[in-house]
Amino acid sequence: MKGVTVITHPLVQHNLTRLRDRRTKPQEFRRVLSEVAALMLYEATRSFAVRPTSVMTPLARTRGAQLQREVVLVPILRAGLGMLDSILQLIPHARVGFIGLKREETTLRATSYHKSLPNRLGNFEVVLIDPMLATGGSTVAAMDLLAERGVHRVRLVNLVAAPEGIRHVRRHYPKLPIFTAAIDHRLNERGFILPGLGDAGDRLFGV
Ligand code: PRP
Repeated sequence: MKGVTVITHPLVQHNLTRLRDRRTKPQEFRRVLSEVAALMLYEATRSFAVRPTSVMTPLARTRGAQLQREVVLVPILRAGLGMLDSILQLIPHARVGFIGLKREETTLRATSYHKSLPNRLGNFEVVLIDPMLATGGSTVAAMDLLAERGVHRVRLVNLVAAPEGIRHVRRHYPKLPIFTAAIDHRLNERGFILPGLGDAGDRLFGV
């Protein structure tokens, strides 16, 4: 699918399989999700712009590179929290914004209950983080909030995506780059991804 990068790295796929396994309990689920998030971020940030710089080593001056823009990580609560810590270890200078969304069980509509974002996002590289892209309603709602803050450069990192959700996001935000470990078969009648991994928030936090 155009604009969607499926990260097929063996370590990502190995960890995804452990996350899918229903026997994986919250303690291990948290650890593995965190590991896989770092691996995925590595791929998702490959196109970050850098500016040339120079640096003095103990022996000589040499050319180098530094990130051109500041980075804002935006996990969608709750499940996005499970991917945040390991990503922050890779980009410790990143700022962190939060978007709280809850999908209503019958209508599947995402309603916002929390927002904490920098006022002007135009100059930042923004990474939107959520393990699941199901109907796509949560991603579109989050993108609407980011758009209100003038975001220019944003990419979405999620672990598992449904084709229906990708299409929905594409209709609203055709240029949003999506990085995922898997495009699954479809949604079931309750809006869960098949085969998916269940409810990521519940599996992370045991509630
Ligand atoms: C889940 C999941 C995504 C969203 C995906 O969160 O973590 O955020 O649903 O569904 P969508 O693409 O159909 O909008 P949920 O709303 O259950 O909240 P939680 O993370 O607190 O469990």
